[in-house]
Amino acid sequence: MAHSIFISLLLMWGVAAADLTFTVPSSPPANSSGQLSAAPLGVSLEFFTFPAYMNNVAATTTCLQNLKDLTGTWPPLRIGGTTQDRATYDPTLTQAVNYTVTSSTDAPTTLTYGPSFISLAASYGGEIILGLNRRLNNIANSISAAKLAKSDAANLYAIELGNEPNFFASSDPIAGGVSWTAAADYASEITWQDEVCGNLSATDLISAGVYFGTSPMSIAGLTAAEGTANNYVKTYCSHNYPQSASTANLATLMGHSSIASQISGYSSEITAATSEGKPHIFGETNSATQGGGGISPTFGAALWILDYVMQTVIMGTKALYFHQGTIGNCQYCWWGRYDMGAPYYGAYFATMALAGADQIAPLDSHTTAYAAYAIYKSGAPVKVLLYNSDYYTSGTRSSQTYVLSGLSSSSVTAKRLTAPYATSRVDQGGNPTIAGQTFANGTCTIQGTATTETTTVSGAKATFTVKASEALLVYL
Ligand SMILES: *[C@@H]1O[C@H](CO)[C@@H](O)[C@H](O)[C@H]1NC(C)=O
Ligand SMILES: *[C@@H]1O[C@H](CO)[C@@H](O)[C@H](O)[C@H]1NC(C)=O
Ligand SMILES: *[C@@H]1O[C@H](CO)[C@@H](O)[C@H](O)[C@H]1NC(C)=O
Ligand SMILES: *[C@@H]1O[C@H](CO)[C@@H](O)[C@H](O)[C@H]1NC(C)=O
Repeated sequence: MAHSIFISLLLMWGVAAADLTFTVPSSPPANSSGQLSAAPLGVSLEFFTFPAYMNNVAATTTCLQNLKDLTGTWPPLRIGGTTQDRATYDPTLTQAVNYTVTSSTDAPTTLTYGPSFISLAASYGGEIILGLNRRLNNIANSISAAKLAKSDAANLYAIELGNEPNFFASSDPIAGGVSWTAAADYASEITWQDEVCGNLSATDLISAGVYFGTSPMSIAGLTAAEGTANNYVKTYCSHNYPQSASTANLATLMGHSSIASQISGYSSEITAATSEGKPHIFGETNSATQGGGGISPTFGAALWILDYVMQTVIMGTKALYFHQGTIGNCQYCWWGRYDMGAPYYGAYFATMALAGADQIAPLDSHTTAYAAYAIYKSGAPVKVLLYNSDYYTSGTRSSQTYVLSGLSSSSVTAKRLTAPYATSRVDQGGNPTIAGQTFANGTCTIQGTATTETTTVSGAKATFTVKASEALLVYL
C-alpha cells in the first residue's frame, strides 16, 4: 500500500524512473565506434528537383551551411532517387533539367538533364554522390554523364549506377524481359562497374548496391559476387526507411530500443562492406517511405534522427544521407520554401554532438528508453549525449535523472533539444528549440539567444534531468 502511494506520488511529481548512473570511461571503451568521418550527417536531394533546391529554395544553402559551421566540413550531398532512373543525359540541353508534370507536387515520369546540372553539382562546397540511370539500360548515355562528372566535378565522391534495383521489374529495359533476380542484379552491377570505370579509366568510383533494405538483394550477396570489380567500388550503399505511411507509429520510430532492433539487420551489410575494405553508407534514408507519413514532420522524427545517427555510426556506417523529396510535397523534409521542418533540429543536434569527435561509445545497453553516449576526441571524453525516448504527447511530462560519474572538471555545461510534445510540428506552431534557439522559417537562419545550462560537479559526479521526448548534450 505504502509502496503504491509512493509510486503515485512519484508519477504526480512527474518522476518516471529511478536515477540512472553511468561512469564515463576515461578512454574509448571496447564497444566504441571506429574513427568517425568529419561530417557523418549528409543530405540526399531527389534527382529531378536538385536544381530547384539549389536555385529556388532560399533555405537550402543556409541549412547546409549551419551544419558546416559546426563541423568545418560541408555535409556530403547525394543527388539521386527514383527519378535518376527516369533521367537521360542530353549534352545539348542548356537548362539543368527539363520535364513536364501535371501538378507541381508530382515527380516526372521522364526527364532529361544537361551539362549545367553537373556544373551545379560541381559548385557545391562538399563531396557529392551522383546517381545515374541503369534501369533504362542505356549505358553509353550514363557513361557520357559519368565522364563529364569525373572531369568537371572535383568534389565527386562516387557515382551510383541505378537506384534501389531491388524494385526493378522484368518490364524494365535493363531486365531484358526476364525476371529481375538478385543474381541478375549482381551480374548487371558488376558489368556496369567494369564498363563505366573502364571507359573512365577509374577505380574507387562506384557507390554500389543502393538497395532498399537487405532482401532479396543485399550487400553481403553483392560483395560475394564482386571479385576484382570490388576495385571499382568506392562505397557500399543501403537505403533505410523504418516505416511507411501504413505502419506509421511515432513512439516506435523514436524509441531507443526499437531503433536498435530496426537497424540490427544492417550490421551484416556493414561487415560485408568493411571486409572488402570499403566503407558502408546509408546513401538514402528517412523516417517513412513515399515522402513520409504523418509522423514525419514531427519533433519525434527529429529525436529519431538523433538516436538513429548515433546507433548507426557506432555500428560502423560512415555517413547517412537524409532524403529531401519533391518541394511542396515532402513530409519528412528538413526545410521548404516557407516553413522549417522539425526534423532539421534533430539533424543539427546530432551534428553538434559529433562535430570534431573521433569516436562515440554507448554507455547503456540499448534495451531501455534511456540512452547515454560518451563522445571522444583524441582518446578523451569531451561530450556526453543523453536521450530520454519516452513518448510524450499530453498531460504531465515525466523525466529521467542521469547521474554521470568519472567527471574531471568542477562544472560542466549543457545544451538542450526540446519541444512542447513529441508530436509538435513547426507548421503548427510547435517549434523545437536547441539551447533556446530556433531556425527561421524560409531562411534557416539561427535566431534567439543561446542558453547554456551549467551543472556543478561534486565528487566527480553530476546530475542531469532529461524530460520525456528530450535530449541533452553535456560538454565535459
Ligand atoms: C523539354 O521537354 C518537353 C517535354 O516534356 C519537350 O517538348 C521539349 O522539347 C523539351 N525541351 C528541350 C529544350 O529539350
Ligand atoms: C566502354 O563502354 C562500352 C559500352 O558503352 C563497352 O562496350 C566497352 O567495353 C567499354 N570500354 C571499356 C574499356 O570498358
Ligand atoms: C557498451 O559497453 C558498456 C560497458 O563498457 C556496457 O555497459 C553497455 O551496455 C554496452 N552497450 C552496448 C550497446 O553494447
Ligand atoms: C514558422 O511558421 C509557422 C506557421 O506556418 C509558425 O507557427 C511557427 O511559429 C514559425 N516558426 C518560427 C520559428 O518562427
